[in-house]
Amino acid sequence: MSNLHETFTLSPRTRATLARDFTWGVATSAYQIEGGAAAGGRAPSIWDTFSHTPGKTVRGETGDVACDHYHRWPEDVALMASLGLDAYRFSISWSRVQPLGHGAWNEEGLAFYDRLVDALLAAGLRPNATLYHWDLPQALQDQGGWASRETALRFADYAEHIARRLGDRLASISTHNEPWCTAVLGNERGQFAPGFKDAALAADVSHHLLLSHGLAVQAMRATGCRTPMGIVLNQSSTSAATDSAADHALAATEYARFVRWYMEPIFAGGYPQDAGIRHYPRNIQPGDFAIIGQPLDFLGVNYYTRIWASAATPPVPAPRALGVTDMGWEIHPEGLTELLVDLHRRYPGLPPIYLMENGMANAGDVVTDGHVADAARIDYMRGHLEALARAREAGVDIRGFFYWSLLDNYEWDSGYDKRFGLVHVDYATQVRTPKDSALWYRDTIASLRQETVDG
Ligand code: FCB
Repeated sequence: MSNLHETFTLSPRTRATLARDFTWGVATSAYQIEGGAAAGGRAPSIWDTFSHTPGKTVRGETGDVACDHYHRWPEDVALMASLGLDAYRFSISWSRVQPLGHGAWNEEGLAFYDRLVDALLAAGLRPNATLYHWDLPQALQDQGGWASRETALRFADYAEHIARRLGDRLASISTHNEPWCTAVLGNERGQFAPGFKDAALAADVSHHLLLSHGLAVQAMRATGCRTPMGIVLNQSSTSAATDSAADHALAATEYARFVRWYMEPIFAGGYPQDAGIRHYPRNIQPGDFAIIGQPLDFLGVNYYTRIWASAATPPVPAPRALGVTDMGWEIHPEGLTELLVDLHRRYPGLPPIYLMENGMANAGDVVTDGHVADAARIDYMRGHLEALARAREAGVDIRGFFYWSLLDNYEWDSGYDKRFGLVHVDYATQVRTPKDSALWYRDTIASLRQETVDG
């Protein structure tokens, strides 16, 4: 064991809580790591279009090459195996396997994921696939994208095909990753592809995303696929800045827009009502909530920070006692406990939860003599694992942790500026260097396994 493992060790209580029935993994997504944008018959997605539009991303950077994982995946699988991980969460690029989003399948693209999944299994890593991590085939966007109900039907066809092709070898299938980002960042704030600024449109898009989730689960189950199915939502706890009624009302609205907006259609049959919500979907049809509310095998939660709600002008700043990450996101592990305990209390009968993403961008990640000293990241992970253990002790059925991300990668509109990886990537040479945090994670997992064996 390295010294790091001793310096940043998890508390005995947390070690005992997480030692059993727990999955240790890492996560990535297709557009952020694959590159090979024009290789093997792949057609453009909305992220290719967006990132190639001047002014949309830092320095105009694109995912054309990214981590070149499309070509270097054997090395990346070996890297994960060397860290002793249980599981890998990745996403499938829809436009790689069905370039136009309808009609013909691209055998070369499907074969890429075939090989990846087989290699993961051979290395003892459980493959967890996400069907949609924001990269809609551009051809579907040209026909209306998620504003069109037709796209939800196309998504269900795509899901069905993947379930038939890969389903029996996957450990789980998630329909969407963070539909809030697609709807709000992509269609209300214009920060992500496709880059629209229309709040009413964003509400409609969110409804079609949820509908497509339900249709996809139905279609995949109809094939006889028994692989656990779920969805991954980005969520935060929400803190009112002061005890004022205005701050509490704002906190409640933020929580309704961010968390309850996706939880309630899926687990409680409708959208949350809150006086602060200005736009409800205009495209709800009879029977939609019955489709959206398919029983799920798991819920994926992504947690990075809390929402701080201040109605004052200027706003009362968050205390940021533990500092901020390179994204400017407040480090607040307690919010993870608060969030998970609230979900457990609010929605009885929830399926098991996996933390599908948690991690930090760190400014000082440079390679010196073959090492990357990223103590801040280790501390972030340690804090969030402690927080997750508190939720488990409070009765939340939480079964796993996936660090975001395996590799430094293309962070959307931030380009390659923000480094989230356990493994450093030198983009000029594509050399991978495990950071200290990777070694800490490896040693932590190994020591917990040893405890399970000994105990
Ligand atoms: C999440 C995304 C992921 C990555 C991290 C930092 O919102 O799912 O792709 O960008 O944030």
